[in-house]
Amino acid sequence: MGEAMGRVTVVGSLNMDLVARAPRLPKPGETLAGHAFAQVAGGKGGNQAVAAARLGAQVAMIGCVGDDSNGATLKRSLEAEGIDCSALATSASAPTGVALIIVDDASQNAIVIVAGSNAEVTPASVEAQEGLLARADVIVCQLETPTDTVRAALAAGRRLQRTTILNPAPAARKLPPDWFPLIDYLIPNELEAATLSGVAIDTPEDARRAAQALKAKGVRNVIVTLGAQGVLALLDGEDEAGVHMPSPRVEAVDTTAAGDTFIGGFAAELARGSAVRDAIAFGQRAAAIAVTREGAQPSIPHRSEISA
Ligand code: RIB
Repeated sequence: MGEAMGRVTVVGSLNMDLVARAPRLPKPGETLAGHAFAQVAGGKGGNQAVAAARLGAQVAMIGCVGDDSNGATLKRSLEAEGIDCSALATSASAPTGVALIIVDDASQNAIVIVAGSNAEVTPASVEAQEGLLARADVIVCQLETPTDTVRAALAAGRRLQRTTILNPAPAARKLPPDWFPLIDYLIPNELEAATLSGVAIDTPEDARRAAQALKAKGVRNVIVTLGAQGVLALLDGEDEAGVHMPSPRVEAVDTTAAGDTFIGGFAAELARGSAVRDAIAFGQRAAAIAVTREGAQPSIPHRSEISA
């Protein structure tokens, strides 16, 4: 690997994560005693930006925090990673986004997000950052900001001939058909791929069918992340059957932000000019480290920790 750094611009959410650890996830109406609590920087956009920065890219963040202590903390933590926050707005009225996260002893999580200031990342605020978008090798979006905003970012990326990545998370419904041709890499997890494609996913073979259904809608590449089962990638110009790439085997303690780490690492590696399969493998090695650590941004490794 050379030393050249690519540029990644992330359009997305920033949340303060309030994380409780409990023996298991509570049932409806149940109160459970937890055994640990932590407040850490998170949000899918912020996590992916931090991952891309720690894993080797120059990163800019387009987003919005509230005018409150959570917002100040999140902005400071991005700046500490060397991330360009010139396009990070501060809302005068909405509080910073929060995520309530429960992690159980089997390392599974359940998350409720309250968008707050993330809902104020508007299409106009993205379009005003044409310079940051044009300078990016790779533009990364998720679905924790308004849908019109995500579409505007993808459309700008296509117009400016930048590589676009959409992590369709959280995916509560199907995407509008006119989005698909704007996406170079669609990277859902198995739940999101099932929601978007209508194909139930239990195995890599199911993921292959879901990816094929999504690629048929006009996306250039589909990469379905399958947790411990690895990823199923259906890549432009390659075998239509796709490739299943297993994950490194590790003992997981907290899977929060594992997908974000994969995406940030993949984006950073793609931006510096690596081949797509190499970028996938790099993202997988980074995510395998993240799951062995607690929390969202605190769990994300640095490039020096990733084995060649
Ligand atoms: O992907 C993990 C993230 O989802 C958490 O950091 C939380 O903020 C939610 O956005």
